[in-house]
Amino acid sequence: MKILVLVLSLVSIGFADDEINSRYFPKGFKFGVANAAPQIEGGWNEDGKTESIWDYYAHTYPEKIVDRSTPDIACDSYHKYKEDVAMVKAMGVDYYRLSIAWTRILPTGYPDKVNQAGVQYYKNLFAELKAANVEPMVTLYHWDLPQSLEEQLGGWLNETVSDLFAEYARLCFELFKDDVKMWITINEPKQVCSAGYGAGYYAPGVVSSGIGEYICAKNVIMAHAKAYHIYDDEFRATNQGRIAMVVDSLWFEPGSDSAEDQEASERVLQFGIGLYANPMFIGNWPQVVIDRVAQRSELEGFSTSRLPAFTDEEIAYVKGTCDYLALNHYATNMVNATADAPIGNPSNGNDISVLTWKKPEWPVGAGDWFGVVPWGLRHLLVWLKKTYGDVEIIITENGLSDTTGIMEDDHRISYYQGYLSACLDAIYEDGVNLSTYTAWSIIDDWEWTGGYTAFLGMYYVNFTDPERTRIPRKSASWFTNMVATRCLVDTCTE
Ligand code: NOJ
Repeated sequence: MKILVLVLSLVSIGFADDEINSRYFPKGFKFGVANAAPQIEGGWNEDGKTESIWDYYAHTYPEKIVDRSTPDIACDSYHKYKEDVAMVKAMGVDYYRLSIAWTRILPTGYPDKVNQAGVQYYKNLFAELKAANVEPMVTLYHWDLPQSLEEQLGGWLNETVSDLFAEYARLCFELFKDDVKMWITINEPKQVCSAGYGAGYYAPGVVSSGIGEYICAKNVIMAHAKAYHIYDDEFRATNQGRIAMVVDSLWFEPGSDSAEDQEASERVLQFGIGLYANPMFIGNWPQVVIDRVAQRSELEGFSTSRLPAFTDEEIAYVKGTCDYLALNHYATNMVNATADAPIGNPSNGNDISVLTWKKPEWPVGAGDWFGVVPWGLRHLLVWLKKTYGDVEIIITENGLSDTTGIMEDDHRISYYQGYLSACLDAIYEDGVNLSTYTAWSIIDDWEWTGGYTAFLGMYYVNFTDPERTRIPRKSASWFTNMVATRCLVDTCTE
């Protein structure tokens, strides 16, 4: 009897979810495909553009990039944007998520001289999208800080950079007010800060775990909030668009039902996505982060917490600065509680103190972080609803990274089918307010430190061919058909 009750309750919360959902996507649900300037544009120093921190990182430390490649040409989208738009149009999606390169618009990084050639490039791209009847969803900052601001000001460790970002954002709101209604301020602040100024494996490569990354986190959140208020005060009434910051997270499934493992899951989520989402949706850092960093800082001999505090004014200023919750999600980990790391060198990992691992039977993608677990997305969506309320969620990235690059990419099709099915489960079974799904990526690209060795595109690009010809993989036609039918299987029901 006990077993039966347990089984029934598992079924009733619906997490026995390996079957593909056969409901139609709701009317009005939107689909998009994505990429970002530093990964596809190339033209890194053309027509007045200057070096971003990623250009500089790849040029200066080739050994940090798996294949020692650079984003100098990438997909050459700076010249081939019409082909990109044609691909997007052929897919029949509602949106194309793209980003603007700060260094193309303001080559010094400062709001002094606007580079008209850079502005014109985006104007042309937006005009092409308009003619194709595809809406742009535009990210202002996809990790490509002007190198000048890193060299002269210390990048995101300096709060002045949040003001400079806000000025750059104001300029873009003004320049593109007739072209763009879906705005994203900053992409994946967790990677900007924890990988860029914490562990240091991403540009600019600053190693300052548990210190620099928290300073960065506050500055990035303030940068977002400043841009949000500028938009709200000066542009919203006429532009009538929407704006948010993209947060990212894996799902962390508790390794057991024990209270400790449940807590470990909650803790790792709060230190990751919560660090950024909590200030915007609830106000202030998550309490568990405030408490743990303060406690460990004290034991380490710091006179104040390594986590910079928000003042009451700042809490009020940041809270409510997202018109929707924009989420990037790719993969899942299991998580178990473990003894707190001994007091010693401060680090974010020690602040969290959990054990993460993957089940051996899970398919993997490129990189050992990539456990393919579609139900993980559903669990994360349910967690977001529980944690932040009934906020509208837009998935701004999801897709499969692999190392083969094969054209008959059935594994990518089954990834999309599984993850989109998890979206339907979340919508219909759990009442999650999910309105939009964006696939990453329309096209193979320069995958940061993975260079040209990790493939996420539904279109293949031969990076040794000067023409950078784009060729559809099998997944491109599957996805196109899925968008047209709004259905993941042969026959769907409303
Ligand atoms: C998230 C990042 O936003 C994007 O730039 C990257 O290519 C994907 N993850 C895949 O790794």
